[in-house]
Amino acid sequence: MIQLDGVSLNYKNDVTLLDNVDLHIPQGGFCWLTGPSGVGKSTLLRLLHLEKKSNTGLVTILDTPTNHARRSTICRLKQRIGIVYQDFRLIPNLTVFDNIALPLRLQNADETTVQRWTARILDWIGLEHKQYTYPKTLSGGEQQRVAIARAVIHRPDLLLADEPTNALDDYQVKRLMDLFYDLNDLGCTIIMATHNDALIRQFPATRLKLENGQLWVNNAV
Ligand SMILES: Nc1ncnc2c1ncn2[C@@H]1O[C@H](COP(=O)(O)OP(=O)(O)O)[C@@H](O)[C@H]1O
Ligand SMILES: [Mg+2]
Repeated sequence: MIQLDGVSLNYKNDVTLLDNVDLHIPQGGFCWLTGPSGVGKSTLLRLLHLEKKSNTGLVTILDTPTNHARRSTICRLKQRIGIVYQDFRLIPNLTVFDNIALPLRLQNADETTVQRWTARILDWIGLEHKQYTYPKTLSGGEQQRVAIARAVIHRPDLLLADEPTNALDDYQVKRLMDLFYDLNDLGCTIIMATHNDALIRQFPATRLKLENGQLWVNNAV
């Protein structure tokens, strides 16, 4: 379960992105996160990924109150979260393979598992032939596919995806949604920021709309 109680959020001396917001998402929920550009969607995802602290209010992630949690608790929680950044944030000096394998290695998975799961997902994103290359040699769409693979390889309990379809073609978007639905069926909570209204119509789910510091919740019918 994800819960915000009275959460306010802003960058120093800047506009308020969240103004006393309450939110409850049950485990296994699927939510679209929408709202105009610059409204704070990416910042909210960073808050849920425990990279950014709220100014006020309580943040509960995967049933764990985080405000006064120990660093070790936060580290363990973050290992249960997958994130696709809007700007990918692949690690430039790691190969494609090592970028994707990173969450498993952070969990100290044994090397056989690392090799097997990484090979499987490389096949799924169609980039086995690029596994020994570095991110800067990839196209935007290829980097996005690597970022998606890295976010899901460790079968997270919470997946945060920041406009993950921007650089994908229609066929790849369909496969991505199939993958996200499969993960969701396995109990993974998914929050996906998007500007793509057609996608939202095609895959009805709870819609969180961020505007003027408020988060409006619309449940799909
Ligand atoms: N690291 C930062 N420091 C200061 N301001 C930031 C930072 N990141 C984003 N902002 C500002 O916060 C606002 C929300 O940004 P963002 O969360 O990226 O919005 P969205 O994802 O909805 O487009 C914008 O005005 C942006 O300029
Ligand atoms: Mg954004």
